[in-house]
Amino acid sequence: MTTSKLALLGGTPTITSPLEPFRSMGEDEVHAAAAVVRGGVLSAYIGAPGDGFMGGPHVRDFEARAAAYFGVKHAIAVNSWTSGLVAAVGAIGVEPGDEIITTPWTMSATAMAVLHWNAIPVFADIDPQTFNIDPASVERLITPRTRAILAADIFGQSADMPALRAIADRHGLKLLCDTAQAPGSLTGSLTGTRFTGTLADIGGFSLNYHKHIHCGEGGILVTDDDRLARRLCLIRNHAESVIGSEEPAELANMIGFNFRLGEIEAAIASVQLGKLEARVRSRQRAAAQLDAGLAGLHGLRTPKVVADGTHVYYVYGMTFDPATAGVPRAKVVEALRAEGVPGVMAGYQNLHLLPMFRHKIAYGTQGFPWTSPYCSSDVTYGPGTCPVAEELHASTFIGLSLCLCELPPQDVDLMVTAIRNVWSQLDALKAA
Ligand SMILES: Cc1ncc(COP(=O)(O)O)c(C=O)c1O
Repeated sequence: MTTSKLALLGGTPTITSPLEPFRSMGEDEVHAAAAVVRGGVLSAYIGAPGDGFMGGPHVRDFEARAAAYFGVKHAIAVNSWTSGLVAAVGAIGVEPGDEIITTPWTMSATAMAVLHWNAIPVFADIDPQTFNIDPASVERLITPRTRAILAADIFGQSADMPALRAIADRHGLKLLCDTAQAPGSLTGSLTGTRFTGTLADIGGFSLNYHKHIHCGEGGILVTDDDRLARRLCLIRNHAESVIGSEEPAELANMIGFNFRLGEIEAAIASVQLGKLEARVRSRQRAAAQLDAGLAGLHGLRTPKVVADGTHVYYVYGMTFDPATAGVPRAKVVEALRAEGVPGVMAGYQNLHLLPMFRHKIAYGTQGFPWTSPYCSSDVTYGPGTCPVAEELHASTFIGLSLCLCELPPQDVDLMVTAIRNVWSQLDALKAA
């Protein structure tokens, strides 16, 4: 390979103009949205008992398609996956002060959903190669107050659900899963291969603008449990004002929200669902090309894909060994960005290091919910509690966010050339 002087050191960037952005919408979505607008009913929900409680025809149609696609009994549309997570934690019936063990290596919404019900997030450490929650760390954190495990299928592949399920069953816990970033990935289970996100008691996906398929903002909950499905539907649509005299007592006394997806978004989401498989294949092709192109680079390890699953590459997550490469990660990342490589990530959010957790104040100024009389938890946050996640964030994780670009083979080639160019001049980078 010919090398050219690194852009960071005064040369010309390998990638001189922005790569083709992700083209997520087509004429089918335009027609679907226009048909809803022409019909004039943009939402058919009513927050009271009756037919409108479950939403309009496009919401119901999208839910039926999603349930069939993902192979679950119930798919429940919501107006964001953040809403979906809040509904999921509420549906399992947590008590204030209950602990839910979750991962620090995820988007803030995962843990915030726990705090919305005045329950306590407890952060387990992660696996250094898959970046997903480490089942052994989960088991060490279980106390009599633990109520559930909330995993995330981060970057595009499943957490170790068989191990998490076994732990949950052994300790009588609920298992929830945040599959925002991994729709369409597959995971092995005792009953054969299933879609990631469907093995938890409640799982689900984000439909926000950056995801594999989207409708602007939205989410979809999945569960095989009738009772949990009913509770999710109640929380989605003003629970307490919907509860009728026919409801079993255990479904009463519930706080509900307006988590309802609109008809336009649902119509677009149905079209997008039909495109999921092709999107997944396209990301997998790009990732295979990156794997081959980046093989053998000193100190860089390309993503690990677990043996019994598939990865859908929301993020192409790598680990970097600064000692082997002889250059700190910050320098390498600076050089990659200067070469024009899109979506370069240095580390990823560690939720347990956020000010809210370090200072233990989620609401007001008094330290709620940790200081509430219902909370007997002495959980600790801050540096040292999740050392694997912290080291990855501080110095050894490099990611490529693949959700930004269309990634035809020639563009992936350009990315590979740019990255290899940086690697071929690590000595010059070190000296600079
Ligand atoms: C892991 C994870 N959880 C939750 C969310 C929240 O999803 P939404 O934006 O649909 O509310 C996201 C969104 O990026 C995410 O990546």
